[in-house]
Amino acid sequence: MVNFIHIGVKEKHKMGELAKTNSTILIILGASGDLAWRKLIPAIYNLWLDKWIPENFAVLGISSKKMAETAFRKHLHEGVDKFSRSGKSIKKEWAIFEKCLHYHPAEFNSSSTYSFIENQIKQIEKKWNVVATRIFYLAVPPNSFREIALKIGTSGLAKNKVISRIVIEKPFGHDLESAKNLNELLHTIFDESQIYRIDHYLGKETVQNILAFRFANALFEPIWNRNYIDNVQITVAEQLGMETRGNYYETAGALRDMIQNHILQLLCLITMEPPVSFEANEVRNRKVDVLNALRRIRPDEVYQYAVRGQYSDGWIQGKAVPGYRLEPDVNKNSVKETFAALKLFIDNWRWQDVPFYMRTGKRMNETNSVITIQFKPVPHQSFPSEARGNWQPNKLILNIQPRMGIRMQFQAKRPGLKMLLYPVDLQFNYNESYTSGTPEAYETLLLDIIEGDTTLFMRSDQVEAAWSVLMPVINSWEENPAVNFPNYEAGTQGPEDAEALIAKDGHSWTLLPPEKK
Ligand code: BG6
Repeated sequence: MVNFIHIGVKEKHKMGELAKTNSTILIILGASGDLAWRKLIPAIYNLWLDKWIPENFAVLGISSKKMAETAFRKHLHEGVDKFSRSGKSIKKEWAIFEKCLHYHPAEFNSSSTYSFIENQIKQIEKKWNVVATRIFYLAVPPNSFREIALKIGTSGLAKNKVISRIVIEKPFGHDLESAKNLNELLHTIFDESQIYRIDHYLGKETVQNILAFRFANALFEPIWNRNYIDNVQITVAEQLGMETRGNYYETAGALRDMIQNHILQLLCLITMEPPVSFEANEVRNRKVDVLNALRRIRPDEVYQYAVRGQYSDGWIQGKAVPGYRLEPDVNKNSVKETFAALKLFIDNWRWQDVPFYMRTGKRMNETNSVITIQFKPVPHQSFPSEARGNWQPNKLILNIQPRMGIRMQFQAKRPGLKMLLYPVDLQFNYNESYTSGTPEAYETLLLDIIEGDTTLFMRSDQVEAAWSVLMPVINSWEENPAVNFPNYEAGTQGPEDAEALIAKDGHSWTLLPPEKK
């Protein structure tokens, strides 16, 4: 048996001034993988540096990979140095922090792994003299979710509903049916309150700020409806290609990878009714209302509402890049979409007949996530036509990333002897307004899990509702494989059909003028 030295992180600080968390054991299943290396441990390290981690805290990493604990710590140290938002780790700090990191090579499908975990938890609790919160983080491929959840259940590790939690990464299911099956299975073991389905977009500062913007200001809510808003656009564009994810992407595609989760969640935040409070279920109820109100696309209408694309070779930042079909682990004749655009409507009083356009793609001309609220034109133009040559309706632009901030575009008189209208911007930029660093999404989410706050996590009905909106498109695309792929060049704005999707309604995707420096 591995001899663990279960040390918390006492040497660093007394229970942090800010931390209000419990003694916690984070069991990462799949700890030798990419997620722990790039995201989870750098996030934990930063939370610890900022004194958010409880005094009694331990990470127990489990993976099938044979590796000694020292090698595990070294590997994670490299990850922190490479990916931490606070830059390279501080030697003295790391030496203290790493003591809470433990590793045990074991198979997920073996019952002895779970007896081992139980034994370790008991030993740690004895040492701390407390009953600790135990968090099972499934940082594993989705085909292992069921088996691991079942084993946690049969081993009795989740019996105590208050202190045991399970965290499931996306993708949650492959379609509506598999998501329902997984939810059913999880509910035989866990209460919904114990389940944390991650959508890391919900942990992003700028995404959380949508709620602050809408519901902490009196100014916007009165015009946040079909009477004033003409259309809404959500773009999540990435320059990135497949890197090492070809295998996964071949089973997913853009619709499942980005729209089913991240983009529909953005849509919910933009369109939900004001919650009565920020209690987890109240917020999630308001979001699920939106998903339930989304107009279902009929199978014979899919072509009018959805566009797909796949990139060919092209140029990104001056470098030649291969087409999707030539990426590692991708089928040479793949018909998987790397771009998807959708038009949706929300059938309720607030949003009836307002089109919501959304698009996402890999290998696009820029990496940019942005939401544009396009307001209606003024009801009557008093200015003569020569004054209005550059007139545009008001736009509110929520920059999610990499730019972070909000821009309000309105008309102003251009200085001069004649009346000439020109759009100008009111801008709020995170970088200018705040000097403190912005936490990574995983920091926010991990802290919420430790504190037992499920607000920013997907409830079972939300996940299922999101799948049910997309199923007609998924089915139609699978039944009718694309015959024109690849249909956009890497480094461009996606296929022409995506322009047509919005142009036929008399709109165009928002092109943003450069921001003032
Ligand atoms: C993930 C997708 O959920 O989100 C990836 O699987 C995508 O394909 C990533 O690249 C984007 O996340 P972010 O935080 O970089 O916008």
